[in-house]
Amino acid sequence: MSETIVSPSLLAADFGNLQNDLEMINASEAQWLHLDIMDGVFVENISFGFPVIESVAKHCTKKLDVHLMIVEPWKFTERLAELGVYMMGVHFEACPHLHRVVQRIKKAGMKACVTLNPHTPVELLEDILPDLDMVLLMSVNPGFGGQSFIENTVEKTARLKAMIERKGCNTLIQIDGGVNYDTGKRLVDAGADSLVAGSFVFGNDDPKEVIKNLKEL
Ligand code: DX5
Ligand code: ZN
Repeated sequence: MSETIVSPSLLAADFGNLQNDLEMINASEAQWLHLDIMDGVFVENISFGFPVIESVAKHCTKKLDVHLMIVEPWKFTERLAELGVYMMGVHFEACPHLHRVVQRIKKAGMKACVTLNPHTPVELLEDILPDLDMVLLMSVNPGFGGQSFIENTVEKTARLKAMIERKGCNTLIQIDGGVNYDTGKRLVDAGADSLVAGSFVFGNDDPKEVIKNLKEL
């Protein structure tokens, strides 16, 4: 089995000393960096926007994995592509015309990810799955770091993996929220290809070691 794609969430970084945390990420074995964008409408929190994304894009050597927790996320497709974003993720719950949004992301040259809130069943992806590069399953309600893991996500991951195999797609599965060694291992065993981790990485004295260990789960 190939190694797990680890995408540390910048939300848990020290924004007063972002350079330090970006240097840690660059020096780590993480393959991607996860950027959580919140608008105070889709979720009850506001994180950061383009000025920060631009600086991160300039200094980070990892592939950028952008998780948009905003209404009307499609509006920002071309701007994100211009910054060299690798994976653009939109919430299923925020896109009434999801197929069109996915095509727009790909046309702009990025990989397309669709994110599901904890209450949204994977079965709703039946018709769009072959078009997706990745599905992100939220294992907490989006909006905040440091929340506890919703257990149902393990079984949900296995159901999504079975759907992907049945349909013969190459779609990756990523999980976000409450990831640690215990939940991470169970998610990888259930079929997860990528793990997002915020507080578990940045809250540790040796974040590079945590990233390395998560890759080997
Ligand atoms: C939550 C965000 C997550 C968050 C994860 O809305 O999407 O990416 O940073 O944080 P932890 O790993 O601390 O649960
Ligand atoms: Zn996220």
